[in-house]
Amino acid sequence: MTQTGFTEEQKQQFFRDGYVVISKAVGEQIIRKAVELITAQLPKDERRLLVPPELATHEDVLSLFNDTCLAEILGKEMGPFPDVISSQVAVTPAFDTLGGKPAPHVDGSWSGAIPDKAQDIDQARGRPKDASRYFGENDELRGSNDGQLWQDPDRTISLGSYTALVGVALNDQRQPGNGQFAVLKGMHEEVEASFRMQRDTGGPIGPEGPGWPRIRTTASGGTFLNGLPATVRERVEQAAKNPVPLDGWPWPELTPVLLDRGDAVIALHSCPHTATPNYGPSPRMNIYFRIRRLREGNPHEGTRRVGHGVSDHPDRGYFGQFLEYPPSYNPWETSVAKLCDHWSEWDGMQEIVAAARSRELKPSHA
Ligand SMILES: [Fe+2]
Repeated sequence: MTQTGFTEEQKQQFFRDGYVVISKAVGEQIIRKAVELITAQLPKDERRLLVPPELATHEDVLSLFNDTCLAEILGKEMGPFPDVISSQVAVTPAFDTLGGKPAPHVDGSWSGAIPDKAQDIDQARGRPKDASRYFGENDELRGSNDGQLWQDPDRTISLGSYTALVGVALNDQRQPGNGQFAVLKGMHEEVEASFRMQRDTGGPIGPEGPGWPRIRTTASGGTFLNGLPATVRERVEQAAKNPVPLDGWPWPELTPVLLDRGDAVIALHSCPHTATPNYGPSPRMNIYFRIRRLREGNPHEGTRRVGHGVSDHPDRGYFGQFLEYPPSYNPWETSVAKLCDHWSEWDGMQEIVAAARSRELKPSHA
C-alpha cells in the first residue's frame, strides 16, 4: 500500500539523520513515462549530457511529485505548499567522475568563477580582494542561474533556502559508486546551530557571515567555493579520516543514499548533500523538487517568477530579480527565522521534536 505519511520509524530517522528514504514512492507507469521522455531528449553522442530546459517543467516530469504519495506525505508531515511548477532534471552520464572529489554543501549559495590563487582572497570573509572583478560593482544585485550573492539588497543574508529537497530515482542506484545523491548524515543540527550563531553575533547569515568564508584557501595555495560553515567542515574533515564504510565507496564522510528505480529521498534543506561520481555503465537519473512550506502573507507564493519546485532562492525571482514586498511581510527575516529553527516548518514532526527537547532540558541526575 502506498504511504500517505511518515511511519513512526521514518520520523525518528528523519529527525536523527536529516533525510529519509520512501521506498516505491512512484509507480512504474509514471516512472516509465518520465524515463522515455528524458531519454528521447538527451543528445546521443555527447559525453556530457545537457538536459533541455523544457523538460524541467514538463507535466510528465512534474507528475513524479504531483501525482504521487510524495505530495501527500509532504502535505501531511510538512504542511501546505504552493504548486510545484518546475524541477531539476539531474542526469550524470555513465562513467562520469564529475571532476573527481564530491563537494558537499548546503543549497542556496552563489557558484560563479573565483580567483584561483589563495593570495587573491581576503581570508576573513572569503571575498576576492578585487571583488568587483568577480562580483560586479553592486554585488547585492548579482543574481542569475549561478545563484545569488545576496538574498536582500541590504546584504544581511547570502543564502537561499527552502524546506525540503525531494529526489526521485529513475534508475537503480542500489550499488554504491553509481552517482548516488550523498549526504552528511546527521549534520543538519550543526548547520542550524551555525545559523543561530551567525544571527546571534549580528550576521550576515550564510557565506561571508561569521564562521563561513565564502571562498576558502587550501594549504597548497589554491582556492575553493565553500559550501559549508567552518564548524561543519571541521567535523567533515574528522569523519574523512575514518575507514571507508562500504565497498566501492571511497568517501567515509559521505553517506550514499541507495535508491532503487521509483524510490525517493526527502532531505532537509540544512542536510548538506552532493552528487557523486558515476563509475557505472548507466546514466544516473534523478529528478529533484525543492519544496518550501507556504508562507502566509507573502504575496509571491506560487507565482511563476519564483519557480517553485526548482528554485533554491524563492525570496528572489528565479533569475535573480528582486521582488516587491509589502511592509507587513519581511521575506528575509522570515527565512532567517526558519533557518534557525528548521523543525518549525514540519507540522508532523512537532511531537518528536518536543519530546527530544524536553529530554535535553531534564537534568541528568533526575
Ligand atoms: Fe545542491
